[in-house]
Amino acid sequence: MKIEVLPDAAALAQRAADAICAAVGAKPSAVLGLPTGATPIEAYAELTRRAAAGEADFSRATAFAVDEFAAASRDAPGTNAAFFARHLRLPLAALRVPRADAPDPDAEIRAFADEVRRAGGMDLCVLGIGVNGHIAFNEPDSARASRARAVELRAESRAAHAAAFGSLDAVPRIGMTLGIADILEARAILVLASGARKAAIVARAVEGDACADVPASWLREHPGVTWMLDEAAASGLTRR
Ligand code: GLP
Repeated sequence: MKIEVLPDAAALAQRAADAICAAVGAKPSAVLGLPTGATPIEAYAELTRRAAAGEADFSRATAFAVDEFAAASRDAPGTNAAFFARHLRLPLAALRVPRADAPDPDAEIRAFADEVRRAGGMDLCVLGIGVNGHIAFNEPDSARASRARAVELRAESRAAHAAAFGSLDAVPRIGMTLGIADILEARAILVLASGARKAAIVARAVEGDACADVPASWLREHPGVTWMLDEAAASGLTRR
């Protein structure tokens, strides 16, 4: 596991953009897994800027969202599809997001994971981490062997999206996520975390035992994981 600590969120966004550009530079047809959340927004803005300036070429790369809400109308403002439309303005070969209004969320996300495999699997899976240790929508109690599936969202995960959906009530109760086992099949993984509120969970995920209580801790079992943290998110680590 590699840990990179950057001075602040702005530096983290630049380094994350560098890493994503490097993956696509090395393999123009790269398959990326991408998260939503506040953390990657600045990095996505930087990718968008670099692509517009001709500094990076994503035109042959494919991106798969790592999760989406379920039982939501397609035009709900808080869906991950809406997030990517707002924040990732890249001319990709394809950006694939599970359909939030799919009638059978479990079948939708399983077919989506099959599509990732048919595309050759993820060359780089970028992740954020929830304050409860979730990665994508693998909430606490997610097994190492878990596969793509519909999941019940925890209260704290729903609360984080209340503003985007307009109210807590409007946030769907079900999500669709690639599973831990699907994520661990990516050839490389990049986890981004910024801010002091992530410090305790980052320390548990990085330094504690791998266990289902902290789904991000399963990433310890992957040989190609890089944690990119700002100083605040790294402040709980005892080994640096
Ligand atoms: C969300 C998403 C995750 C994301 C995480 C952290 O609910 N499902 O993919 O990584 O929570 O979000 P943030 O970066 O806003 O803290």
